Amino acid sequence: MTSLAEPLQPPTRVLLGPGPSNVHPRVLRAMSIPLVGHLDPAFLRIMDETKRLLQFVFQTRNELTIPLSGTGSAGMEACLVNLLEPGDEAVVCVNGVFGTRMAEIVERYGATLVRVEAPWGRVIDPADVAAALKRCRRPKLVGIVHAETSTGAWQPLEEIGPLVHAAGALLVVDTVTSLGGCPVHVDDWGIDACYSGTQKCLSCPPGLSPITFGPRAVEVLSKRKSKVQSWYLDLTMIQKYWGAERVYHHTAPISMNYALHEALRLIEEEGLEARWRRHEGNHRALKAGLAAIGLGIASQENHQLWTLNSVRIPDGVEDARVRTALLEDFGIEIGGGLGPLKGQTWRIGLMGESSNAANVLLVLSALERVLPQCGYAVKAGAGLAAAQRVYAGS
Ligand SMILES: Cc1ncc(COP(=O)(O)O)c(C=O)c1O
Repeated sequence: MTSLAEPLQPPTRVLLGPGPSNVHPRVLRAMSIPLVGHLDPAFLRIMDETKRLLQFVFQTRNELTIPLSGTGSAGMEACLVNLLEPGDEAVVCVNGVFGTRMAEIVERYGATLVRVEAPWGRVIDPADVAAALKRCRRPKLVGIVHAETSTGAWQPLEEIGPLVHAAGALLVVDTVTSLGGCPVHVDDWGIDACYSGTQKCLSCPPGLSPITFGPRAVEVLSKRKSKVQSWYLDLTMIQKYWGAERVYHHTAPISMNYALHEALRLIEEEGLEARWRRHEGNHRALKAGLAAIGLGIASQENHQLWTLNSVRIPDGVEDARVRTALLEDFGIEIGGGLGPLKGQTWRIGLMGESSNAANVLLVLSALERVLPQCGYAVKAGAGLAAAQRVYAGS
């Protein structure tokens, strides 16, 4: 006889890693609202409102703006598989884990991959995108990551849209770590297809991937010669459930959609501009505090994300030991570096609900306590004082 499983009792954490972020109690409450069916008129109303709220967050008028069932990678895969047919050429910008993932997906679906690279931590140069497009016969799309969570690099997009369109291609953008935390202007920047995830700056549990397709992308989708290679992510069918026809495709994850609806309502109440300023202010305070204890940001100067701070680990300090102490002694989760940055950087996320002054001061004070135990001398209070000065505006 095995004993019965115990009730869940996960610890309470301050989530300052690369995601998920902490979730507002209103969002958690929304997940416990009784279910209705996925074609219930009440749910259809919620779907319509969610579309409107997503249009607001993406800053777009695109009709095809919906949450896909699945995490951010589902959105990435959906954008690529719906727009690419076998044999198409796709330019993908690679300067971290998530550009690498896009490139991998392009190849898996049988398209020809043209890579544009930048060192990890640096942003992609638009001139390199233009040169890659020139090398293509008929480029179908350019894929690029706005906020590279693996490095903390913040990619400017304003210049890229026009040169992608001049080459007759579509611009596909990953906004998983930027949407709801820093400005994303889908229409103004000429983004044709864009995806995100719920668990970062939208502060909702992981499980849905908001996407938006503009008129050029919708036209490409409608003129495909072959069926979309993925049945589950086929937008030609999914759009009939989210549009006027309401044709069943798969059972919508009802509670997740409740949660997203509530998370988006919270964003609407706060206001996008105010939310961006909040993320900016907390990043600036954290950066100042880290600098005062000798910790620098590893990503390219002037292109450092507000939402994900990639922090250089001082020589001689053991990455995992610090992260374990933060988790065990303070209940704080931060992330480690990925790929070539493993052991060299920590990733401190300040996303959505997690981006607040209390968390910034907490993580700085915890670092001031933990770092000396790991062989790195810190002047106690220096980081906190520097962050406080930023908050005081002095
Ligand atoms: C920039 C970026 N793109 C895509 C993804 C994939 O999202 P998910 O892990 O939700 O599938 C992530 C996840 O961290 C990400 O940070």
